[in-house]
Formats: sequence, C-alpha cells, structure tokens
Amino acid sequence: MRVKMAKKRGFCFGVRRAVDTVYDQVQKGGGPIYTYGPIVHNEQVVQDLEARGVRVIRDQEELERLTEGTVIIRAHGVGRSVCEKLERQGVSYVDATCPFVKKIHRIVERESGSGRHILIAGNPSHPEVEGIQGWCQGPVSVLESLEEAENFVAFPETKLCLVAQTTFNYNKFKDLVEIISKKGYDIIVLNTICGATEERQTEAKRIASEVDAMIVIGGKNSSNTQKLFEICKKECENTYYIQKPVDLDLRTASSIRSVGITAGASTPNKIIEEVQKHVRNQL
Ligand code: F3S
Repeated sequence: MRVKMAKKRGFCFGVRRAVDTVYDQVQKGGGPIYTYGPIVHNEQVVQDLEARGVRVIRDQEELERLTEGTVIIRAHGVGRSVCEKLERQGVSYVDATCPFVKKIHRIVERESGSGRHILIAGNPSHPEVEGIQGWCQGPVSVLESLEEAENFVAFPETKLCLVAQTTFNYNKFKDLVEIISKKGYDIIVLNTICGATEERQTEAKRIASEVDAMIVIGGKNSSNTQKLFEICKKECENTYYIQKPVDLDLRTASSIRSVGITAGASTPNKIIEEVQKHVRNQL
C-alpha cells in the first residue's frame, strides 16, 4: 500500500501567517480578541480559537458596536474604510492581510489615484475583492465572466488598470485580458494571481491520476478545497472530500493499493497528519 502526500497541501503562506497572528495575540493576552470574519474556513481552528476566547465578528454592524479589544484582519484583507472605522472607534487592530493581497491594495490605490479606472478580475461578493475595491480612489468594475469583459465599455479616453483576485483562474484571466486589450484603451495589466493555488491544483491533479483513491481534506465552505475536489474527481473516481479523519472509511474499498492525500489552503497540518495516520491504520 502506498500513500502519496501532496507536497503543496494545507495552509498557504498567507493563511498560516494570519492564523499564527491570532495565536500570538492570544498568548500576549490583554483584552478581548476578535477576528473580522472567520480567520480561516475551518471549523476546528475557529472552534479552538473560540475556546481560547477569540470571537468572530460577522459584519460591519457588529464591528461598529465594539468599544475595546483587538480586531485581527484576516488574510483576505479589508477596505480602507474598515481600518479607519476601527481607528475612529479607538479599537486597535492587527492587520494580517496576506502581503500578496496588500500588494494589490497598494496597486489599486496608486493607479486609481493617478486617474485609472480599476478593473478587478474576480468574484464581486468575495471578501478579498470587496477589500480591494475599498482601496480604489475612483471608478472600479469587477469582471467575473468573459461575457462581462465583452460588455465592458467606458469613455474612449479612459485609462484602465486590470488586476486579479489572487485565486482567479489563470486561463480565464488570460482570456479576459485578451478581450479587454482589444477594446483599444490605454491599459496596464498586472497579473496578481497567487501561485499557491495553481501549484496545489496541478500537483493534486497529477497525484489523483496516479492513485486508486484520492482524499481531499478541507472545510465544506472552503472554495479552494471544493475546487481541488472537482479536479481530483475528474482524474480519480474514488475521490473523498472529508473534514476530519472520522469522516473517512476506506475499509470497504478492498481493491485500493494506493491513496493520494491533499488538503485545501484552510486545513491545518495537525488534521492532515491525523488523516494520514488514519489511512495507514485502515489499510
Ligand atoms: Fe496569500 Fe496566496 Fe494564500 S494570496 S492568502 S498566499 S493563496
């Protein structure tokens, strides 16, 4: 029996950094600690933090009611107005925005400040995209589909700057750039897609094509885990989507001689190791 573990699995750099920031803050103590949204799409991590007194703030209204404590901003980042609001309320915050997302904030702030209309290739309701929009100082449009790109129009002399949500599909971004570029605007294109997602998907696809069963570990709300599952399922019919070891029972699958394991960006190492042990014990 062979177990193949993906090398690119579990927390990406930005998520690890954000989760570590919360645990560091818990250790430091001193006043209530909040995260603006769950720090990671993983129930176990959020529950563990809750047990240590960390509360999740769900929306702006809840945020506005805070009068003390420290708010940790997660890897997705937030718009400028959220930081300003906290400052006005006298609530301190620790910015754990992933540096790759922060870089996009800086780009759109600068380019919109110099008069460019910002285009973001991404999902308009994703918190990262909402945050990026919140750093624009002028017009901004979010393009999620190629059709939206086709339909995009602005005054002929408009200058554009196109960036991407860090997890946007690279091939779709290329197509989108091609469509917008043909329209003849003065345009700056910056590929701000983060390599972590693509590397993970490419490796998972390769492993899934080589094994009898594939296990994808991650929270059910994690979109990058869902995507990994879809990719693996296409390569390997016996693909299992699990959140923790107890969700998995391979004992009935007698013809399995090799198992691959990967995990979404929101899955802690501890859970991946437990699953690995569980698989070895079952087979
Ligand atoms: Fe950052 Fe890339 Fe992860 S942008 S949060 S390292 S997927």
